[in-house]
Formats: sequence, C-alpha cells, structure tokens
Amino acid sequence: MSKITISLIKADIGGWPGHSSVHPALMETAESMLAPEKVSGKLIDFRIMAVGDDLQLLMSHTLGADNPEIHGLAWETFLKGTEKAKELKLYGAGQDILSDAFSGNIKGMGPGVAELEFEERGAEPLIAFMMDKTEPGAFNLPIFKMFADPFNTAGLIIDPGLHHGFILEIWDIREHKRVFMNSPEEMYDILALVGAKSRYVIKRVFPKPGKLPEDEPVAAISTEKLYQIAGKYVGKDDPVALVRCQSGLPALGEVLEPFSLGHLVSGWMRGSHNGPLMPCAFGDAHPTRFDGPPRVIAAGFQIANGTFVGPVDLFDDPAFDDTRRRVGEITDYMRRHGPFEPHRLPLEEMEYTTLPDILKLLGDRFADVEQ
Ligand code: F6R
Ligand code: MG
Ligand code: MG
Repeated sequence: MSKITISLIKADIGGWPGHSSVHPALMETAESMLAPEKVSGKLIDFRIMAVGDDLQLLMSHTLGADNPEIHGLAWETFLKGTEKAKELKLYGAGQDILSDAFSGNIKGMGPGVAELEFEERGAEPLIAFMMDKTEPGAFNLPIFKMFADPFNTAGLIIDPGLHHGFILEIWDIREHKRVFMNSPEEMYDILALVGAKSRYVIKRVFPKPGKLPEDEPVAAISTEKLYQIAGKYVGKDDPVALVRCQSGLPALGEVLEPFSLGHLVSGWMRGSHNGPLMPCAFGDAHPTRFDGPPRVIAAGFQIANGTFVGPVDLFDDPAFDDTRRRVGEITDYMRRHGPFEPHRLPLEEMEYTTLPDILKLLGDRFADVEQ
C-alpha cells in the first residue's frame, strides 16, 4: 500500500452558547460535506469531532500533506458550517475564517492543521489530541515528556527500539524559523527553547535511523497562532496534535501519561489567562467555568488500511480522576488571583487589553520620577 496521510483540520466557526461547545447541526453539516468524498474516493475515511467550540475534521487519504484538494475540502466544509452557524445565530459564527478566498492551502487562513504522512505499519495505533482555550505551546511539555523524558517514557531507557531517542523540529513562531534538534544529546538546549512555550513550539517529531523511516514524522502539532496571522485578536488558536505510538515509539500509556499533571497553559478567558489543562472525556469537553479551565481530549484509533478503527475516548478513565480533581483545586487557586499575574498573562501576551486607552487617558498625570 502507498503512504497514507492523516489530516486533522480544525476551526471555531461558531459556539453554542458563547464559546462553550459546537452545535450538533455543525457536526451534521460537516458529515454531509465529507461523506460524499469518502464515496468519491478522495477520502479513505473521516471522523467529525469537537472540543469546546472547535469543530474537528479528522481525514485519511493518499494525497499527502498540504494537499490543495484536502485543504480545499476542509475550507468548503467550514464555509458551509459557517452558513449554518449564521442561520442559528451561533456565537462568533465564522470566527476562525479569516480570508474570503481559498488559495490552495488552508494554513494562515484561520484553521489549525496537523498532518502525518507515513507508511502504515502492521498495526498502527494513533492518538488525536484536541485542546480548547489554549495555544500551540501547550503541547510543548507533554510532547517533550513523551519523546524525551525518561521519567515519563520508560521505553527511552529499557526498550532498544527507543533508546537512541528522537529528533524534534522546533519552530520560532515569532521569527518564522525552524531548527531540528537531537534528543537526548541536546536535551538542555532543547529545554532552553521549548520551555519558552509562547515563542518556541515543537512542530514535529521524527525517528532516528532504525526501524522506522527517518523522513516520516511520528507526531505533528498545529502551530497556527490566529492573533499573529490576523495582526489583531480574532479568536483563539486552540491547537491539535497527532501522535503515533507503540513498537519503537512511546507506548499508548506513555503518550497519555504527561496529561496526568494538569500543567499550566495560556489562553484561558479572553486568551489572556494562565490555567491548568484538564484532560477529560468527550462529553465533558464543554468549558464553562470562567470559560474553562482549558480542556484536552484524546481520541484513540487503530488505523486499518487508512480507515479509522475508533475512536476510543482515552481520557474517559478513572485513572485521570485525581488529575481532574487537582485541576479543580488549581482552578480555584488561580482564580483567586483575579486580575493579577501570573493568572493574568504578561502584558505582551494578552489578547485583550485596555492599557493603551488607560495610558492615553492618564496622559501627563503619569509624571517623571527620580528613582
Ligand atoms: C474563546 C475564549 C473566551 C472568550 C471570552 C470573550 O475561545 O477563550 O474566553 O475570549 O468569552 O469572548 P467575546 O469577546 O467574544 O465576548
Ligand atoms: Mg469561539
Ligand atoms: Mg476554541
């Protein structure tokens, strides 16, 4: 069989109510757009999913990453969904649709994209992670832990198939540059970058020479930042990721384990607050408390000749109950800081601000002072 491509493309095209969830009519519209393309053969298979107010199109095909037909199909689906969202007067209808004209690639137009092209193995487990109320850098910590932290991934120490580590592709999303770095050889340098998650984001992970082809990524993360694309705040840049597992890659449980921390991420309430990330079941992915706390869901599949066998709702597991309880406590703790940092983001990272107006109003009242 030729290589398959898995494309996960998402957009917020309207919330119900507010920014809390996706109306079922939008999922039905997406289904009606993608189903004929499975019949036509453009798609091998697809799944429609949702986290918070983000509609998720998971598609498999043989057309490769960045394919205009696949990106065009996603674009048309979001446009059609936006019509429906406008009809129902859903909140922020068409929020992530930043451009009127499609030019062959959906990147930079609003939606988020994660794509993996690879030769399907004898058995191919894959997890689609989808987050709401946060930013692409929220994946840095869990992806680093999965592929580079031996305290998370036992296989890095005891499995000969993983022992040599992985290659991380890291993007500077401000300067639009990228670098490939070796783990574990350059671990401290990698951490110096990816710990600064609002600027340096892990985009892809590649295997080192061994069992798996070196040019086929084993993980991919969406890195679109809407407010940078549009130059002003237009909506959230809630990210997604695709991660392959097992047989020379981190095991399913090693891929899920980093989410047991409930780590602090940026993007909660008005894209301007830090809060803990709650791993939750599909049915609980409706952030309502202070529009949060930020959520992540995990959809698990076996891939069979490009078809999706699943999803399994992987965080629907009592083993994550303690994490959720702790996230609740951290939510209380962070909320009690009100408008103070570090609950509120530093000035340069806030997506909403009144400060320029306030400073203008204060004018000369802000007098020089000797220090
Ligand atoms: C949206 C989000 C929300 C909104 C907030 C204000 O993804 O993070 O917290 O930023 O509800 O939304 P507006 O300005 O649309 O009233
Ligand atoms: Mg929204
Ligand atoms: Mg969202």
